[in-house]
Amino acid sequence: MLASTRILLIIGGGIAAYKALDLIRRLRERGAAVTPVLTRAGAEFVTPLSVSALAGQKVYGDLFDLTDEAEMGHIELSRSADLIVVAPATADLMAKMATGQADDLASTLLLATDTDVLLAPAMNVRMWEHPATQRNIAVLRADGIGMVGPNSGDMACGEYGPGRMAEPLEIVAAVEDKLAAGPLAGKRIVVTSGPTHEPIDPVRYIANRSSGAQGTAIARALAALGAEVVFVSGPADTPPPGGVEVVRVQSARDMLAAVEGALPVDAAVFAAAVADWRVKSASDRKLKKTQGALPVLEFEENPDILATVAQRETHRPRLVVGFAAETDDVIDNATAKRARKGCDWIVANDVRPETGIMGGTDNAVTLITADGAEAWPRMTKVEVAARLAQRVAEALA
Ligand code: CTP
Repeated sequence: MLASTRILLIIGGGIAAYKALDLIRRLRERGAAVTPVLTRAGAEFVTPLSVSALAGQKVYGDLFDLTDEAEMGHIELSRSADLIVVAPATADLMAKMATGQADDLASTLLLATDTDVLLAPAMNVRMWEHPATQRNIAVLRADGIGMVGPNSGDMACGEYGPGRMAEPLEIVAAVEDKLAAGPLAGKRIVVTSGPTHEPIDPVRYIANRSSGAQGTAIARALAALGAEVVFVSGPADTPPPGGVEVVRVQSARDMLAAVEGALPVDAAVFAAAVADWRVKSASDRKLKKTQGALPVLEFEENPDILATVAQRETHRPRLVVGFAAETDDVIDNATAKRARKGCDWIVANDVRPETGIMGGTDNAVTLITADGAEAWPRMTKVEVAARLAQRVAEALA
């Protein structure tokens, strides 16, 4: 519920502006007061009359005149809300925000505000994928601007791909998350999970037994504390949690690319069981059984995602957490692994078969930090996740 919350809704100029009308209704249904701002381009797609009728308030437009300024100055308007939502957020509006331009009412409000901002981007797929837009998105994320969507699908322009504005109810859910005062609200965290599949040929691959249970529980626990979670998952048995952005990958190299694509983030938790090696020159045609000759697979090393991110010079997350599944000298090995990889914490566990941890519901972990080793009692993986999420919240506070 959004009872007595005040939303300043900036409607940019894109075909998705029609969905902003429904968004106003959905927000008001939940008790929010919506103050609309319609850009000049936005007014080409929806009329000020429909916007004000649905919002039950006057619309602030580009022609913000002296009467408006006397009623409520633009600085005051920019700070009068609990949250500013920009839907649709066009490539142009995002570029202005990333560079701090203020040449109309919407961009001036966005520059003058000290309130949280949530963008619902909408644009043509090529515009979304353009390096300029991607650069602007990285800048905006680093500035702490929240984003919901865009979704992939058929677009009004006839193309297919990412760029469609999130649906009104998805935006409402993101508004609710953003306003929920969880200790991780406003924090963006990437979590890797599950196994990776390394191809041998188009039908065969090398994998491992990771179910993805622990990584999924961690992503869910972080989201429950209000974090915006990017969940990068290999082909796992456990379905991904709700309320997170899911990026599905196959190989270690795909996983690294997805993690790097999610940066900048405040924290990164690497729970995936990444294959250490891949098949060198995997065949793009199915290998045939040839009489008398067994295939010989040659391996090469995969990138170490945890070490790569922990040792980055730019956009290194403030907190980098790795896992260490060990069968011998758990504490010593995990402590050495923490130093070798350059991460802040290692969650270590003993995976000898007699512990029943691999594939089971329980886990017994030791948290290794710069201050030493802290053994946690045996508990369920869901409880480990909740405790770890709480510790992450304390570290990022
Ligand atoms: N990891 C990773 N990328 C890899 C391998 C591992 O991100 N290519 C991460 C895992 O997600 C985990 C941590 O590194 O958080 C530890 O993985 P592990 O496989 O145990 O470490 P190794 O470097 O393989 O060490 P060792 O083989 O000595 O156990």
